[in-house]
Amino acid sequence: MCGITAYCGNHSALPFLMQGLSKLEYRGYDSAGVTILQNNKLITVKCKGRLKNLEEKVSHYQFDGSIGIGHTRWATHGIPSNLNSHPHNNSLNTISLVHNGIIENYRELKNELIDKGYTFQSDTDSEVVVQLLDYYYNGQLLEATQKVLKRIEGSYALCIISTLEPDKIIVAKKESPLIIGKSKDAFVVASDIPALLEYTKDVYFLDDFEMAMITKNDISFFTHEGKSIQKELTTVPYDTEAAKKDGYDTFMLKEIHEQPYVIHETLRGRIFNQQIILDELKDISFEQFNKIYFVACGTAYHASLCGAQVLERITQLPVLATVASEFRYNDPIIDDKTLTIFVSQSGETADTLAALKLAKQKQATTIAIANVLGSSISREADYVLYTCAGPEIAVASTKAYTTQLVLLILLAYYVAQRLNKEIDYQAIEQLESIPHYVEQILKDENIFQEYALMLKNLHDAYFIGRSLDYASVLEGALKLKEVSYIHADAYVAGELKHGPIALIENGSVVIAVATQPHIATKTISNIQETIARGAKVILFTTSHEDIKNIDNVYYLPQVSPTLQSILVAIPLQLIAYYTACIKGCDVDKPRNLAKSVTVE
Ligand code: G6P
Repeated sequence: MCGITAYCGNHSALPFLMQGLSKLEYRGYDSAGVTILQNNKLITVKCKGRLKNLEEKVSHYQFDGSIGIGHTRWATHGIPSNLNSHPHNNSLNTISLVHNGIIENYRELKNELIDKGYTFQSDTDSEVVVQLLDYYYNGQLLEATQKVLKRIEGSYALCIISTLEPDKIIVAKKESPLIIGKSKDAFVVASDIPALLEYTKDVYFLDDFEMAMITKNDISFFTHEGKSIQKELTTVPYDTEAAKKDGYDTFMLKEIHEQPYVIHETLRGRIFNQQIILDELKDISFEQFNKIYFVACGTAYHASLCGAQVLERITQLPVLATVASEFRYNDPIIDDKTLTIFVSQSGETADTLAALKLAKQKQATTIAIANVLGSSISREADYVLYTCAGPEIAVASTKAYTTQLVLLILLAYYVAQRLNKEIDYQAIEQLESIPHYVEQILKDENIFQEYALMLKNLHDAYFIGRSLDYASVLEGALKLKEVSYIHADAYVAGELKHGPIALIENGSVVIAVATQPHIATKTISNIQETIARGAKVILFTTSHEDIKNIDNVYYLPQVSPTLQSILVAIPLQLIAYYTACIKGCDVDKPRNLAKSVTVE
């Protein structure tokens, strides 16, 4: 997840920029850079790797310029490299910028600029913005920026400096956070509050489609169309620790609420004209495989169960999801015709890593789906795709899970495309709207808080579902037991009669998921069987048929059944979260659990 810092004031800019970037380190990055405007020159220093590499590089300069911008980059477009790092400058070195977000139409814009004679240094979408600024600059940086904003599609937080107007920073925002702090003798800018707190707690929150022109003594705000606007200064009540939680009580809640954004991040640049773009896998010829394995642990295994079902339906090949600790010891029948996919948030889980090494020994092709860049699993695999969830701090996985689901669905459609299989274009279209649907569900948080009240005094809870919904309820039950310590089990609804129903009695709570139209009515009739034995039911569904006697029904948005696992994850996470809070549990650090299990 990228980070931005910028300074315009009476002192040297560098100390603020560097301390700000280090405060944002916890969000993850793979390269960093700064530009300082000094003696009417832009001096840009940037490099791949950790901030200490950048510190070492800047120590060779005598920086005292009082205007500057800084950036930490987490690669998505273009590999981590010195050239792809920010800031990006125009070729005359008169304009420099840092950018968070994605310029979705960068390919068209890049081609247009190449036709006009522009050359590009990097593979990033962000460089297009600085070249466009160069193209539109006509004596007014603010006006040139407004013209550029009209041309670019996507999301951005931008900070721009220029020798042509050396007294100012122009900033603009759409769908990527940007905050401006006002200290005694400077304006300081950052993508997140922790970067500002040592300098000030008085901030302006820039909203989408707003921009600002900052000089060392003054700030003016505008809409992207150039209309002048007023903004209120707010004092943030946080200390640095609280700021990392963005004002939420816990990391888990913060991470649940980050899901619209991180899902968007995971999708960005990966769907273009209804085509899935996963260039990282372009060298694989998928025709060679006769079997596919997903291997993972914990929550990542639940995402894999879902990914396996979707991929199997699409490829019509046998696709199995296996727990890594079983896979590694069960002598799996795999060879060079097997594709193996290893899913891991941390990229460090010992069993998953060992399973990956075993698959390689047996000549299988290996793909890692990881969240942490440069982690062992991502380095060991033949190919790697990253979820863009950002650092997940709460032990119980939430945003890593939903981004894994999104990426596994993208992968399934990508393979379908490569094998010329039939593709559900409607689902691909809806996938792009998933962040919006997740946002809608999050607005119903109070409903899930109410459901949590039904669970708080229980010793056991039952989760049921069929087909893809079974993977969802496994994850729902895992969340509940992890954070609230209530024993929870998930069952295939069709198996109820074969045992679990013996446990249902007056007051039992059954959480059911029925989002798959071909099987929803079957699950709903299983629910009736539990109600007849005294259970209280909470049902998540899209179906309006046969819903009677069920007191608590939550209707999920009507999207393709393939995508429902992403949506239903949100209420199940919130139910677990609020149950744990009511019981006074330490939600971020549940007893006996570790975030990353690096030993067997
Ligand atoms: C631990 C964590 C879980 C996680 C599992 C797999 O058990 O507590 O949240 O799902 O490890 O971790 P990975 O990093 O491989 O996804």
